[in-house]
Amino acid sequence: MQTTQNVNQWFKAAKVEDFPKNGGACVKYKDQQIAVFNFSRRGEWYACQNMCPHKKEMALARGMIGESENEPKVACPFHKKAFSLQSGENINGEEEAVTTYPVKVEDGYVYIGLS
Ligand code: FES
Repeated sequence: MQTTQNVNQWFKAAKVEDFPKNGGACVKYKDQQIAVFNFSRRGEWYACQNMCPHKKEMALARGMIGESENEPKVACPFHKKAFSLQSGENINGEEEAVTTYPVKVEDGYVYIGLS
């Protein structure tokens, strides 16, 4: 679950305009790939691990974002497993949850909260 309480570092990921509206992009932090989503329709930002737990594909940043009962989610482009962008849980299957990260936008830059 994303919460800013445990954040001990805000990683400056990229400029706001580097992220497509209502879409995602992958950023690298050390050896981690993090999928960042500009959910502009909701006026919200989300981030989660880029690796889909299903077949370990680095793919979630290229997934389709949407909502299920007002919960923001991303569907993997490979086999359409969907993960909550809030809790990280697999909404339509039994896959393990993905790690989600808090996101903040300041002065035109997107930051990812790491703990
Ligand atoms: S690899 Fe993501 S749903 Fe299969």
